[in-house]
Amino acid sequence: MKQTTAIKPSSAWREAKIEKDFGGNMITRISKDWALIAAGTPSDYNAMTASWGLIGYLWEKPVAVCFVRPQRFTRSFTDKSDHFTLVFFDKTIKTRVHKIFGNESGKDIDKAAKAAVTPIVFDEGAIGFDEAIETIVCKKIYFDDFDPKNFLDPSIAKLYNGDYHRFYIGEIVKFYEKK
Ligand SMILES: Cc1cc2nc3c(=O)[nH]c(=O)nc-3n(C[C@H](O)[C@H](O)[C@H](O)COP(=O)(O)O)c2cc1C
Repeated sequence: MKQTTAIKPSSAWREAKIEKDFGGNMITRISKDWALIAAGTPSDYNAMTASWGLIGYLWEKPVAVCFVRPQRFTRSFTDKSDHFTLVFFDKTIKTRVHKIFGNESGKDIDKAAKAAVTPIVFDEGAIGFDEAIETIVCKKIYFDDFDPKNFLDPSIAKLYNGDYHRFYIGEIVKFYEKK
């Protein structure tokens, strides 16, 4: 389904430093706050909820890692785009946003319209949402698919039905937050 075209961000956004300004406990930020993974162009993008992810330091770069199962509509966008973004929302609208973005597919609906959020595009072409509070822009530098032969803990296999995630390691190239 055609998604609402992304427009310029509102003036409330400012560029900030990921090392200094992205706060909180990293495990809580990902597993409890959740984020949207967004990728694509202003007129052809998709986004979905993620509660699995990593933020850290690798190959002398600040990085973020996201995990996308093959059946997600978002997957073709994370495959073909040079960048992906991780978008965080305030508690006041998080439930409304993730109810749509984490349970419905961009294959079938215009998610932004249904969740009443405004898609935006930052200078480097990265997709975000104006109602969010933080946006991490990542340039893809590595990807791979989980190989079940390498699962060392039997509980991991139970989380799959052959649909092993593709993970993308992204160099964090920009961080935007609301003033
Ligand atoms: C809280 C929550 C966390 C999720 N985390 C992930 C994730 O990390 N990776 C993934 O592939 N799917 C994850 N999903 C599922 C997708 O967000 C969901 O299937 C979504 O509808 C896919 O949309 P799409 O088809 O438009 O890409 C999560 C869903 C929820 C509700």
